Amino acid sequence: MGRLDDKIAIVTGSGAGIGRASAILFAVEGARVAVLTRTPAHGQDTVKMLTDKGGTGAFVKCDVSKSSEIKRAVGQVLKKYGRVDILFNNVGTEGPLGELKDLGEEEFDRAVNVNLKSAFLLSNAVIPSMIKSGGGVILNCSSTFGFLAAPKFGAYCMCKAGILSLTRNYAVELAKYSIRVNAICPAGTTTDMHPRYLGGKGTKQERKRLDELIFESTKFGELVLGTELERAHLARHPIGRFASPYDIAKAAAFLVSDDSSYMTGSAMLVDGGYTIV
Ligand SMILES: NC(=O)c1ccc[n+]([C@@H]2O[C@H](COP(=O)([O-])OP(=O)(O)OC[C@H]3O[C@@H](n4cnc5c(N)ncnc54)[C@H](OP(=O)(O)O)[C@@H]3O)[C@@H](O)[C@H]2O)c1
Repeated sequence: MGRLDDKIAIVTGSGAGIGRASAILFAVEGARVAVLTRTPAHGQDTVKMLTDKGGTGAFVKCDVSKSSEIKRAVGQVLKKYGRVDILFNNVGTEGPLGELKDLGEEEFDRAVNVNLKSAFLLSNAVIPSMIKSGGGVILNCSSTFGFLAAPKFGAYCMCKAGILSLTRNYAVELAKYSIRVNAICPAGTTTDMHPRYLGGKGTKQERKRLDELIFESTKFGELVLGTELERAHLARHPIGRFASPYDIAKAAAFLVSDDSSYMTGSAMLVDGGYTIV
């Protein structure tokens, strides 16, 4: 028996990183998982990986920056599975990097569309199904940067702070329908995003290696310590290593399962102590 037996789950941005690890783990826990992501090859790889582990899932193409694609993708999931019990709004992008004063309107809109507005649109697309079936769980991906300001990450921080407020407000509105809404807040996690913003290469080979190690938490810290910035960033994590996507997926699985049945409106830090020093 898995903790998510008979559940229908959507995981956005599940072609890599935290989304991929979560899709795999949710499937291993018994959920049927809709792998909503932008690049078909990445989504299909995730489906293969979760199927190889004995799980069930399907790729659904969706660029979450486009409301028409969200509508179509959720429609496809509802047609295939009949309902949605779990929505993990995982998708996020660090860009565009730069000081807020230098950002153009289009760049600002792009950051908001992917990091914040997508969570609003996807939630509203699945809430009617959750109400109809008597409840559900929404999990939103924020970040330690949702609590902080960080040089050149202004747009990202603003969106991640917005995700926390979105979470609290949905939690209050939806409690009467037995829908719980929480946020998860990782710190440095060795995904594709990580070498990108710390100046590492993020090569194809590195990506493959990350995928191979997806369930091996302790090796991740060693893997990408290529730059001085990475070493400085690591020093800010008292636990002594970066998270693996699986570290975050384990917390996500807890938050979408009945194990967290009394939690709603929370912002759960999974940050190796990043915010306490
Ligand atoms: N990594 C960290 O250090 C860290 C720290 C704190 C919080 N987070 C948060 O954790 C979440 C996951 O991050 P990650 O590091 O796993 O990211 P990642 O490795 O960059 O993977 C992001 C995934 O999202 C997909 N994606 C990006 N833009 C999309 C769009 N417009 N529509 C649909 N899918 C899209 C990508 O698509 P395709 O592969 O399909 O092209 C990819 O599969 C994000 O919300 C991020 O802000 C990450």
